[in-house]
Amino acid sequence: MDRVVVLDFGGQYSHLISRRVRDMGVYSQVLPSNAGEKKLKKIKHLKGIILSGGAASVYEKSSPKCSKEILNLGVPILGICYGHQLIAFLDGGKIRRGESGEYGLTELKILKKSTLFDGLKTREKVWMNHRDAIEKLPFRYFTTASTKHTSIAAFENKKKKIYGVQFHPEVTHTENGNKILRNFVFKICKAKKGWSTSGIVKNIESEIKEKIGDKKAIIGLSGGVDSSTAAALLSRVIGKNLIAVYVDTGLMRRGETEFIRKTFSKYNLNLKIVKAEQKFFERLKGVLDPEKKRKIIGKLFIEIFEKAAKKYGAQLLIQGTIYSDRIESGITAHSSKIKSHHNVGGLPKRMKLTLYEPLRDLYKDEVRKIARMLKIPNEIIKRHVFPGPGLAIRIVGEVTRERAEIVRKASYIIEEELKKARLYEKVWMAFAVLLSVKTVGIQGDARSYKYPIVVRIIESKDAMTANFAKIPYNVLEKISTRITNEISKVNRVVYDISDKPPATMEWE
Ligand code: XMP
Repeated sequence: MDRVVVLDFGGQYSHLISRRVRDMGVYSQVLPSNAGEKKLKKIKHLKGIILSGGAASVYEKSSPKCSKEILNLGVPILGICYGHQLIAFLDGGKIRRGESGEYGLTELKILKKSTLFDGLKTREKVWMNHRDAIEKLPFRYFTTASTKHTSIAAFENKKKKIYGVQFHPEVTHTENGNKILRNFVFKICKAKKGWSTSGIVKNIESEIKEKIGDKKAIIGLSGGVDSSTAAALLSRVIGKNLIAVYVDTGLMRRGETEFIRKTFSKYNLNLKIVKAEQKFFERLKGVLDPEKKRKIIGKLFIEIFEKAAKKYGAQLLIQGTIYSDRIESGITAHSSKIKSHHNVGGLPKRMKLTLYEPLRDLYKDEVRKIARMLKIPNEIIKRHVFPGPGLAIRIVGEVTRERAEIVRKASYIIEEELKKARLYEKVWMAFAVLLSVKTVGIQGDARSYKYPIVVRIIESKDAMTANFAKIPYNVLEKISTRITNEISKVNRVVYDISDKPPATMEWE
């Protein structure tokens, strides 16, 4: 399958560039900026390289760079923002610090006919976000477009098939950004489409054959769409050699264990249910720090999986980790660690099992497409995401059985009311968070001093960014009334109106 690699120089949009390329039907992956020409040379069917944006200045010693050799691989290259400047810098041009930056929408004037701009008007709205700029282009590079503040807003070296744009074609504010990226991918790189749902499935299945062969593997089945899809894919290839382990941590959604038992009993899946509530609550006793909670839970999961693996003779551990989980756990060289996702950063360093994550390069909607193709029930596909550490990260402060019960019940009410209002499928996630403070209330003519519940309902496309959902007040009112009426330990309900960023979806 043809592929386009995005080299990540720390820009917030690196993954978005790769996303855009995949949406065109061409496989794309993000690699760290220092991947090196040797590694790139080994990639089969490499049709193009995109150098992402980034916050650094190319002339700073410590700024991320790639080797100059990449420009001589004979593979078409597109530099975006920092990547645009880096190409010029590496090939002998000059970059200067701008007097003032250029941020936001601006008008691009196309000065020279270029394949990159095929089908565009001579004036285009583009989105800029930079301070440095190219002052002088290297030999045989030509300016193809400019803006009021940036004389070299785009360049090309047609012979070497190297292109650069100072603006961001990957963001939707650049009106014809997608056209520019399509021109690069199809007209300059001449990549062929191959990234379709069935193509992805074929690829993963052949990787499974290669990685697992006739060994036995254990999969942590959580009931979410990711692990269910991973389990379905694996069981198609390795059949009964897959042992699906569902751990009842006591921190799951209401009725979850029964749901899992019922749903998967219809499949030819080797399912084992491990009851481990007591262990989870014991280990989490007195622990307040969110990262500690995540680490404890991750470790306990692995202990359970290792025990099961020994019992069933499995050598591999499969997890349904997807791409966004890995970005947020700090897998890319420049992304900072936001939190340890229990199925990524929360894993202990030394593990007896070999870890294999077949969905590691996929985005959530790609996983959902595969799930549909594999005929996984809608109840699972349309379910909201549920975090690996479960309710533990929705309880601020100590995790106890009693507090888990409060947050579980409140979350159930929220989901139920959203379903009644036909809003459940319109949002990414909806849940309750229990705080550790108490506040004063008045119930039945008497003073009460109880916990508040936070209602968190969010909209998101890929979990990387999110907005709080603008839920009608009458629905919020029903949720609030039911929570305070049905949960005796709660006397106040608040609605979280934070977007991501600056907040994350979960509270811990
Ligand atoms: P945040 O809170 O990071 O959440 O904005 C983004 C999405 O990821 C889910 N999430 C997790 N999923 N293990 C998981 O499997 C985890 O440790 C974890 N932490 C957050 C979260 O529910 C949301 O959908």
